[in-house]
Amino acid sequence: MNTASFRKRLVMGNWKMNGGLEANAKLMADLHAGAGILADHCTLAVCAPFPYLAQVQSQLQNSVISWGAQDISAHKAGAYTGEVSAAMLVDFGCSWALVGHSERRAMHGETDDVVAAKARAALDAGITPVVCVGETLAEQEAGQTLAVIQRQLGPVLALGKEAVSKIVVAYEPVWAIGTGRTATPAQAQEVHAAIRASLTSLDAHHVRVLYGGSVKADNAASLFAMPDIDGALVGGASLVADEFLRIAAA
Ligand code: PGA
Repeated sequence: MNTASFRKRLVMGNWKMNGGLEANAKLMADLHAGAGILADHCTLAVCAPFPYLAQVQSQLQNSVISWGAQDISAHKAGAYTGEVSAAMLVDFGCSWALVGHSERRAMHGETDDVVAAKARAALDAGITPVVCVGETLAEQEAGQTLAVIQRQLGPVLALGKEAVSKIVVAYEPVWAIGTGRTATPAQAQEVHAAIRASLTSLDAHHVRVLYGGSVKADNAASLFAMPDIDGALVGGASLVADEFLRIAAA
């Protein structure tokens, strides 16, 4: 059996801080119309800004597309102004939460330990955390890619086998996010293989490892052809229904 065959491909949109009621409604109507035929071979999901999760829930609840948040609090409840808890995300039907996106690591000072605590909070509520990791351009040029990824993953892997068996990992080189520069399939595969080896050492063979960073319809197929790339986390291209669906179909 092909070892990748039991990891169903996952294509997840990250809308970031984009959209609005009207634009979201149109985007989701178009996604809904085109997603049905893709559902057999691909899990489709979108991660929306918090205020729109109710809209997303009402519009996608009878579709094959699942949804999630772009962040989650590590805390359960209380005096954490501006934070959104896992239980709140459950109230709005979220299946997924991104944790440790590079924009949050860079702009909000999220450490590897904070990211792991957020992953734990998601898991405790039955939400699948999508743990984002990736090196900066300077780190890549210094040949530190694999060391950085291992460091970022460390506290998450320390959550233990049971927890790790329920996560998704997204490798997103920071230099490829929103820049139009994608890692070559071979470059990405090398990092994915290293992540896979770490996961396999915890018996988590089935955990999906997504690639992210300027994924488009015209580069998705070559990335997905790599044995350890199980799907994509898509930013800019997820705001255009046709482009996103073509990535899922790739
Ligand atoms: P991009 O973003 O596809 O626009 O590069 C990916 C991400 O940040 O998740």
